[in-house]
Amino acid sequence: MTAKAFHVAVAGATGAVGDQMIRCLEERKFPVKSLKALASKRSAGRMVRFKGEAIPVEELKEDSFKGIDIALFSAGGGTSTRFAPHAAKDGCVVIDNSSAWRMDPDVPLVIPEVNPHAVADYTRKGIIANPNCSTIQMVVALNPIHRRFRIKRIVVSTYQAVSGTGNKAIHELFDQTRAMIHFLDVKREVYPHRIAFNCLPHIDVFLENGYTKEEMKMVHETHKIMEDRSIGVTATTIRVPVFFGHGESVNIETAEPVSPDAVRSILQNAPGVKVVDDPSQNRYPMPIDAAGQDLTLVGRIRKDESIENGINMWVVADNIRKGAATNAVQIAEILADKYL
Ligand code: A2P
Repeated sequence: MTAKAFHVAVAGATGAVGDQMIRCLEERKFPVKSLKALASKRSAGRMVRFKGEAIPVEELKEDSFKGIDIALFSAGGGTSTRFAPHAAKDGCVVIDNSSAWRMDPDVPLVIPEVNPHAVADYTRKGIIANPNCSTIQMVVALNPIHRRFRIKRIVVSTYQAVSGTGNKAIHELFDQTRAMIHFLDVKREVYPHRIAFNCLPHIDVFLENGYTKEEMKMVHETHKIMEDRSIGVTATTIRVPVFFGHGESVNIETAEPVSPDAVRSILQNAPGVKVVDDPSQNRYPMPIDAAGQDLTLVGRIRKDESIENGINMWVVADNIRKGAATNAVQIAEILADKYL
């Protein structure tokens, strides 16, 4: 790591991801010279903690980024669309966790284990996009397999935790669960239906093709990050009553003959991946084990017996950490080390 230190801002500092971004900066010992915590007017004056210090939250404004070197954004797409260009104009590099800039051809979309070289393109707009949480964990697991066996097609179904929707959704699952257990009226505000003791086949908005935006993010972002638009990708994304940790059932068809043992051996040496695959001992990845750490856990690796070259697997990661905050801070580390 470089000996330099940086003025860093976190936009969305009071949110589920923003809070974790601040904790990741501290945990990973990112060289922070100063930290500015930004959120909406509602939170101005609240305090966040960084390295034992209380830092007052300031209202995010167009001129908030003067003198800031790196800004981590996780305050929603509208906020990123509006404020990231102001930050970039003031010479600050934005690492944006929203979907606002991900498919912009002049904005790199980066998973450090997969396409770290793309960070170099930050100079085009001063913005680097952090991929969708579901895309990150899937591509961390699949990229090493693609490089060896060439993946022709991916069929993925997700089981996504409510924390991906933010703090309000975490409270909604908690409150609804408590209300159900006590036979009280269940209130809902965030999701269109009850999430407690339920599953919703609906993440983000529905599009004209019948898919949700979340499902299409997985298709387009996978192509951009893996730099291969020939891979067929089809996704079904489901919200489940889990607080932290997304699970994904992933089926792949490869061009080259592939075996579960070969996949296990590649993944055992893959960056950011841990193979947890011993069904005889009831060992397989689960959200309760993925939460609070940064590895993408892969298990249930087995042959798809319905096709010539197919594999099924189960992939789990902490959606707030590797799926958002940790990935963003890893990008900041590359930026700090190589480019600033
Ligand atoms: P605030 O807490 O003041 O509303 P989450 O994903 O957990 O819902 O968090 C969203 C984050 O984005 C929060 O920090 C929230 O601040 C922030 N945010 C939302 N809208 C705005 C806005 N218009 N300007 C600045 N920050 C915003």
